[in-house]
Amino acid sequence: MMSNAHRIRVLFDEDTIAKRNEALAQEIAAAKPENLLVVAVLKGSFMFAADLIRALHRTGLTPQVEFVHLSSYLDGTVSTGNVTILRDIESDVRGRDVLLVDDILESGRTVTFAKDLIMARGAKSVKTAVLLEKPGKRAVQIHPDYVGFTCPDVFVIGYGMDVAHSYRQLPYVGVLDHHDKDPDLFDKPGA
Ligand code: IMP
Ligand code: MG
Repeated sequence: MMSNAHRIRVLFDEDTIAKRNEALAQEIAAAKPENLLVVAVLKGSFMFAADLIRALHRTGLTPQVEFVHLSSYLDGTVSTGNVTILRDIESDVRGRDVLLVDDILESGRTVTFAKDLIMARGAKSVKTAVLLEKPGKRAVQIHPDYVGFTCPDVFVIGYGMDVAHSYRQLPYVGVLDHHDKDPDLFDKPGA
């Protein structure tokens, strides 16, 4: 058992996530994408993308996989508002069905930026898959095509997601019990 496990409350456990990923893959496959390119947004989506891609394989799809590293966050939990490309994809997206994969849709800025970028480069279609959607925090209008779970308005960690570079390794999505942490670092727990 890890030493700080008692401070983490599990929101979505491994088994729940695994089952949801299979269902999402079925939904994605049902749309019969052609010449599919999966673009995972680093870093937070790496674990979700790895599981989703293998679930897509089990449906019989043969996607290619790319990564774009975007940043809209400073260390800590406060969004800077503008998105920058830290590392771009290498593939030509022209004429392809693209599936953009991200961890969380919060303000919507990250996914909107990536979607606009790939559309502008001539993709045939860009659909979006997010593991978590936090309603009520949207700053730009975007409706994700595939959503794993609706997430309460708290700062979550694990399954690829971090706070100040830690906790990405957790196989589940959790919330830090922050009684003994700096309260300014965390959102107030919502409903
Ligand atoms: P948006 O651009 O505001 O939609 O923010 C989306 C990005 O912010 C996600 O890709 C995450 O990397 C990060 N993010 C938002 N909320 C959380 C959270 O609760 N935990 C960890 N990362 C988060
Ligand atoms: Mg992210």
